[in-house]
Amino acid sequence: MEGATMVQPSSTFVNINKKKLWVSLAIAVLSLCFVPINVSAAVRRHPPQQHHLSRKPSPKLRFGRNGEFKILQVADMHYADGKTTPCEDVLPSQVDGCSDLNTTAFIHRMIEAEKPNFIVFTGDNIYGFDSKDSAKSMDAAFAPAIAARIPWAAVLGNHDQEGTLSREGVMKHIIGLNHTLSQFNPSDLHVIDGFGNYNLEVGGVEGSGFVNKSILNLYFLDSGDYSTVPAIPGYGWIKPSQQLWFQRTSAKLRRAYMSPPNAQKSSAPGLVYFHIPLPEVASFDSTNFTGVRQEDIGSASVNSGFFTSLVEAGDVKAVFTGHDHVNDFCGQLTGIQLCYGGGFGYHAYGKAGWPRRARVVVASLEKTEEGGWGTVKSIKTWKRLDDKHLTAIDGEVLWSKKHTGKVE
Ligand SMILES: *[C@@H]1O[C@H](CO)[C@@H](O)[C@H](O)[C@H]1NC(C)=O
Ligand SMILES: *[C@@H]1O[C@H](CO)[C@@H](O)[C@H](O)[C@H]1NC(C)=O
Ligand SMILES: *[C@@H]1O[C@H](CO)[C@@H](O)[C@H](O)[C@H]1NC(C)=O
Ligand SMILES: *[C@@H]1O[C@H](CO)[C@@H](O)[C@H](O)[C@H]1NC(C)=O
Repeated sequence: MEGATMVQPSSTFVNINKKKLWVSLAIAVLSLCFVPINVSAAVRRHPPQQHHLSRKPSPKLRFGRNGEFKILQVADMHYADGKTTPCEDVLPSQVDGCSDLNTTAFIHRMIEAEKPNFIVFTGDNIYGFDSKDSAKSMDAAFAPAIAARIPWAAVLGNHDQEGTLSREGVMKHIIGLNHTLSQFNPSDLHVIDGFGNYNLEVGGVEGSGFVNKSILNLYFLDSGDYSTVPAIPGYGWIKPSQQLWFQRTSAKLRRAYMSPPNAQKSSAPGLVYFHIPLPEVASFDSTNFTGVRQEDIGSASVNSGFFTSLVEAGDVKAVFTGHDHVNDFCGQLTGIQLCYGGGFGYHAYGKAGWPRRARVVVASLEKTEEGGWGTVKSIKTWKRLDDKHLTAIDGEVLWSKKHTGKVE
């Protein structure tokens, strides 16, 4: 299935207008001066909500005038020191002259080919163990997104903290980089496990009835590195504190989406990004996934229940992880697609002769009866291989308002 026919260049429409934000903030503060005493008392009793409204007057990401929002997922770059860091698991004929710079070149080619509206780096962005300076490795790893001025976000994997910076230090560095929408953690929560748990809203098309609404919700979580519980071996997992944050955020977004103007009947679709796959991913075999499984599922050895939380919340249509470089499939369980990005980085383990790859996701809007852009109609995906023609493979519909299934 060639996804290339689906690919269309799209206008970028990201609204990172700080001036506008400050003007709205000033208006919000000014208007507060004119509300009657009893109303401002009510506002004071619910300060977090008011704070949220005035700080975030409009979403920073929005659908383009072509009615699409396209996301490039880059999984497991394993970036270290650049030119001096060799490639792993390439054919003998490819060893010479192969380094981290091939990872950089692949991102540039993907950006050029797909012109994504947004890029998500799903962890093991750097391979801390082999990096001389974690900050420098990150600067080099994310440089193509920054140079292209494309908004991007990152979550942590299990190798990002193995160098000169802790997990906290790595996330702090990321949020200071240009064009990133990554956040350290929710500002209104005092306690949450991990670093880099946040959500982003994607607004409707400028000029449409959905310009002020988030019609696609993106969630980012820190799936940890390794278990710190002696009795439990293996990788980390998404903790109850993070699940509670997800549930509250999902419920808040649902309320906003179902409120006027343009009140909708259910939640806007959501997409979730983190590093370590959920244990449920092990329940698929080749009869019920698209892509390949060439290694065991590297999830935690315990199930912390996050999949159940996702099903309960009802808005999430797909989860995107990395971690297992030579698995690249999507499978659907209880209405939620569980997808791997597929290994991207050349200093990451892989399989010689099996090209590095990236996943693309595009959400498309439906037309309203009046002929304007409405809400999300479908979410499609495909992958591209780092070969001569950036071959597109495994195109499929992850979710649509009517049904899900493969592209015919
Ligand atoms: C790595 O990049 C070099 C320089 O552009 C290129 O010659 C080589 O073919 C690339 N290797 C792989 C495995 O893509
Ligand atoms: C970020 O971008 C601004 C404006 O383009 C530039 O002046 C600044 O040097 C950049 N900062 C970094 C750390 O690259
Ligand atoms: C969106 O918000 C702006 C600013 O508050 C307002 O002027 C505009 O009328 C709103 N548009 C719609 C369609 O709700
Ligand atoms: C996939 O199919 C296998 C049978 O081939 C079945 O045992 C398994 O439960 C299915 N998994 C899902 C998630 O549907």
